[in-house]
Amino acid sequence: MEKLEKIYQGKAKKLYTTDDPDVLWVEYTDQATAGNGAKKAQIAGKGELNNHITSVMFRLLAARGIPSHFIRQISATEQLDRRMAMFPLEIVMRNTAAGSFARRYGVEEGKELSKPVLEFFYKSDPLDDPFINEDDIEALGLAGRDQLDIIEAKTREIGKALTSIFDSIGIRLVDFKIEMGTTSDGTILLADEITPDTCRLWDKASGKGEVEHMDKDLFRRDLGNIIPAYQDVLDRLRTLEAGR
Ligand code: C5P
Repeated sequence: MEKLEKIYQGKAKKLYTTDDPDVLWVEYTDQATAGNGAKKAQIAGKGELNNHITSVMFRLLAARGIPSHFIRQISATEQLDRRMAMFPLEIVMRNTAAGSFARRYGVEEGKELSKPVLEFFYKSDPLDDPFINEDDIEALGLAGRDQLDIIEAKTREIGKALTSIFDSIGIRLVDFKIEMGTTSDGTILLADEITPDTCRLWDKASGKGEVEHMDKDLFRRDLGNIIPAYQDVLDRLRTLEAGR
C-alpha cells in the first residue's frame, strides 16, 4: 500500500489517499485542541496512544459483531481505514449528564440519565458545531430519514457495547462522540475514532464526590497531564483484548 496525497488535515489527524481508491492512510498527530480549536497544544505521545486505543476499540467492536471503517494498524501512529462519504454530524450518546448537556439543561455533572440520550451536532467549524435535530438534518439534506433510523439503531448498539467494554475494565463511560459515513456501495458504517479525546471516561475507583478523569477533560479543564491517563486506558484495553 502506497501513501499518496494529503487530502485533509483535521485537528488531531491527517488523512492521505493511497493507491487503492477505497482505502485511506490515517496519521494520528500529537495536537490537542479544545473549544473548537480555541485552545491548542502539542502533547508528545498523544497521537501514538490514540492510534493504539482506537485500533483496539475497533477490533473489540468487530469481535462483538459491530463493523467499522478500520482495516489495520500499520505503525505506532498510523492506520488504514476504508474511505467513506461522511455525514457532517457528530453523533453523541450520553449515559450520564456532563459537558454541554449539563450546561444546557442546568443539571449537575454526574447525574445518571434514566435512558441513554442520543444527540446530533452539525459539524461546522464556522458555526461552532451547533446542536441539530433530526428534522433539521433531513430538511438540510444532511441525511435521509431511512439513514437516520439506521444511524440511531447502530449508535444505540455501539453505546451498549462500549458501555460494557469500559465497565469490564473499571471505567464508567459517561458519554461519547462517533461519526458515520457511507461506503461506495451505500452501506452505513462507524468511522473516525473512539479514544479518550472523543469519550468521557471516569475511573470507577474514583472516591465519593470526586471524579478521576481519564479523558480529554484533563486538557480542556486544566486538570492534569493526559498522557498517564490515556496510557492507563490503553493498558486496561490491552489486558481485556488479551483475555487476561
Ligand atoms: O461537549 P459535550 O458534552 O457535548 O461532548 C459530548 C461528548 O462528545 C464528549 O465525550 C466529548 O469528548 C465528545 N466530543 C467530541 N468532539 C467534539 C465535541 C464533543 O469528541 N467536537
